[in-house]
Amino acid sequence: MSHAAASLTPMTARRAGPLQGRARVPGDKSISNRALILGAMTVGETRISGLLEGEDVINTAKAMRALGATVTRTGDGRWSIAGVGVGGFAEPAGPLDFGNSGTGCRLVLGAVGGCPITATFDGDASLRKRPMKRILDPLERIGAKPVSMAEGGRLPVTLAGARDPIPIVYEPPVASAQIKSAVLLAGLAAPGETTVIENEASRDHTERMLTHFGASVRIEPHGAHGRRVTLTGQPELNPAVVAVPADPSSAAFPLVAALITPGSDVILEGVMTNPLRTGLITTLRSMGAAIETVATRNEGGEEVADFRVRGSELSGTDVPPERAPSMIDEYPVLAVAAACASGVTRMRGLKELRVKESDRLAATVDMLRVNGAEVEIDGDDLIVTGKGRVAGGGTVATHMDHRIAMSALVMGLASDKPVRVDDAAFIATSFPGFVELMRSIGADIA
Ligand code: S3P
Repeated sequence: MSHAAASLTPMTARRAGPLQGRARVPGDKSISNRALILGAMTVGETRISGLLEGEDVINTAKAMRALGATVTRTGDGRWSIAGVGVGGFAEPAGPLDFGNSGTGCRLVLGAVGGCPITATFDGDASLRKRPMKRILDPLERIGAKPVSMAEGGRLPVTLAGARDPIPIVYEPPVASAQIKSAVLLAGLAAPGETTVIENEASRDHTERMLTHFGASVRIEPHGAHGRRVTLTGQPELNPAVVAVPADPSSAAFPLVAALITPGSDVILEGVMTNPLRTGLITTLRSMGAAIETVATRNEGGEEVADFRVRGSELSGTDVPPERAPSMIDEYPVLAVAAACASGVTRMRGLKELRVKESDRLAATVDMLRVNGAEVEIDGDDLIVTGKGRVAGGGTVATHMDHRIAMSALVMGLASDKPVRVDDAAFIATSFPGFVELMRSIGADIA
């Protein structure tokens, strides 16, 4: 496990001048994980550029190596994978350690679930608390068998993949791209059609990338906000070239920082604008945020934009529950924006936040309260009463959660007194270079 509790890295953010300049955040975590996994399931050489070289993704790369793929770093963000083909994974010599990464662990559970091998999955103390039954349940229907698991369906889990995977129709109990992706990746090895029915559409990077690698995926509307995704199993996957766009979930931090720091004027380059990822932009614009799209283009099959973001007077808003999947990772930093806004922001339907890298609902409330902001939980809703400014002066417990750490540091850039986090080490899981990037646009974080 990469982080010993003894080696905490505290960090403090202070108010300084306006933020200014241009920045490009690292590659998208979801796409980076998927590119490595699909590359490993394809015979031939897949070449990736712009890969996020954060700990979560590196752990996925190590798992692909342990399962028999040849994974080589050929340059800055450039990786080459010689894959083993659908159903071709070799039994790993030891446990696969996914560190802090729920996505890596769950997607690889799915990929292994369709192969006739047995593998043990493990992670750090945060990942060991997170639910895995949501993945194991559909995998059992496909024919995989959990040989052992910790209490409550937690890691470490030993999974015996299916010898003869069965194509299924599955309706996940929660809107989750991770569940959908695990089922589709297992379904790759099954004969016939594997279908996932979503009542609320979640990010569709797996579907897009499967198509990019040559699989046949059909997408139909389902209800008001949902989709029915059908994959034809046992495809001939072709090695692909993948260019990873900048991660909108990482861009969220400098973006909110610029909005809440008066006089700021920042350009964020090449941010992916997949509509299933842009809930935060929609919400912030409805709060009065000056976020201008200055250029758009297509990068590696995804729409991207350069955003010009200026310091803005924000007002409270109501965020509907059906928007949650398109901004599920952005609520902590939206809560910071809401605390700096005027009026009440109600964020509805946030049950899933309780099972992220931390109980993010509780961690977000504590982060704001310890810094003098007014916040409460009502059922699954988070309600922040913004006063136009935040007092600060508190130390935030990050609970091994990168997004709580970055959100708290962003808050410190605009609060009256500095904000300290107890441990900034986990920022490296998703956003290596965060502090340097923020400093390059004028932030005082040390
Ligand atoms: C992800 C899906 C989301 C998100 C996570 C990345 C993915 O999780 O929170 O950071 O890459 O599929 P859920 O789909 O479980 O909500």
